[in-house]
Amino acid sequence: MIGRLNHVAIAVPDLAAASDQYRQMLGADVGAPQDEPDHGVTVVFITLPNTKIELLYPLGDQSPIQGFLDKNPSGGIHHICYEVDDILVARDHLLDQGARVLGGGAPKIGAHGKPVLFLHPKDFNGCLIELEQV
Ligand code: CO
Repeated sequence: MIGRLNHVAIAVPDLAAASDQYRQMLGADVGAPQDEPDHGVTVVFITLPNTKIELLYPLGDQSPIQGFLDKNPSGGIHHICYEVDDILVARDHLLDQGARVLGGGAPKIGAHGKPVLFLHPKDFNGCLIELEQV
């Protein structure tokens, strides 16, 4: 059911420093910061030949990233995103299998303008999984 790895998202305590590190030390193609107020994050997209990295930084008072950074002050992998062909078919299959879909199960529009869902990390070996319809 899942397809390609769409991105790995890393929460960072300093977005400018992390962007510079990926650009200069790692020689990656690093984009400009983009505010995503609906998701409470500022995102920097890094384009690799086979996938993307997203650097996440809290935006606003209710950011879901802030609690993660409070627990992980030096940052860390926040979630990984797999592509699916049909997000509603994927959701219904997962619910049938007993997985928990966060946020009531209705897809939201994600940072790439496509529908996304998140799956409960306790059901997936401690890893927060995002599904994105492509
Ligand atoms: Co993501």
